[in-house]
Amino acid sequence: MNHLLDLNDAGGDAIAAMLADAQDRKRARADWPKGRPDADAPLAGHVLGMIFEKSSTRTRVSFDIAMRQLGGSALILEAGTSQLGRGESIADTARVLSRMVDAIMIRTDDHAKAEELARHAQVPVINGLTDRSHPCQIIADLLTIVELGKPLPGLELAWLGDGNNVLHSILEAAGIFKLNVRVGTPAGYEPELEFVEMARRGGARVTLTQDPIEAVDGADIVVTDTWVSMGQDHLAEKLASMQPFRVDDRLMARAKPDARFLHCLPAHIGDEVSEEVFEGDQSVVFDQAENRVHAQKSILLWCFGKLAS
Ligand code: CP
Ligand code: NVA
Repeated sequence: MNHLLDLNDAGGDAIAAMLADAQDRKRARADWPKGRPDADAPLAGHVLGMIFEKSSTRTRVSFDIAMRQLGGSALILEAGTSQLGRGESIADTARVLSRMVDAIMIRTDDHAKAEELARHAQVPVINGLTDRSHPCQIIADLLTIVELGKPLPGLELAWLGDGNNVLHSILEAAGIFKLNVRVGTPAGYEPELEFVEMARRGGARVTLTQDPIEAVDGADIVVTDTWVSMGQDHLAEKLASMQPFRVDDRLMARAKPDARFLHCLPAHIGDEVSEEVFEGDQSVVFDQAENRVHAQKSILLWCFGKLAS
């Protein structure tokens, strides 16, 4: 039984095994109806419980469809309509759910809540996004990059905008796979130093800059995300300082000619990305969204100890 609260819980060998398994399973079921189980239905009879204390479209649907494709099923607990929302403790919720479901996914604000859930659960716990990190998203992103034929070690990845939870997981991946990350943010919106140091310890080159052109110059992959994450305030001063970091044609032109644009979605067109880039030929955001399903399947298999690595 494995928890996936952050990418280092799995490590490079397991994530590489997930990426290989995801590609194999994706290929094996091309053109099948999306709800039909894979031929081996490796999680037949298993149930995933999903706790949502924040909104979600992709994470919610992709985990549900992933469980169906693995032969199992999923159910949702919304904080507002469960006893969690009325103050039942995380510890008791973990112990109760462990008697009823085979794995738990949680999307919440404070990362410590996901950690506490894992401490008290007798089944695998998966982080479906916290204020600190979004590991499942980055496994789908790595799958998208690998499918593009771009090798991970030495990849030049540019991040523009807010130094947020998604960037933290990218930096964690950078330390694991030796990606080079150039982070362009306004002053005061840098990622937490802990993640920068983690990446550098793993052998990644990480540059922090307040110059968006320096960040994208010669990049293989350009990534951004919302300037205002869930639970944050729309501060006028923050939005003003983000303006030069909008990914538009002018910035994309500084990346390599075959560079691709990634965004975890939901996107705010005209804020962190221009419509031309979002809808343009270099954008792979909907492949990336689809890959959430394929990535979740391999994450689930790893959590259940069913993935050789
Ligand atoms: N990218 C992502 O996690 O999307 P949702 O918030 O819709 O789950
Ligand atoms: N950084 C965003 C990601 C959404 C998937 C947020 O936390 O709201």
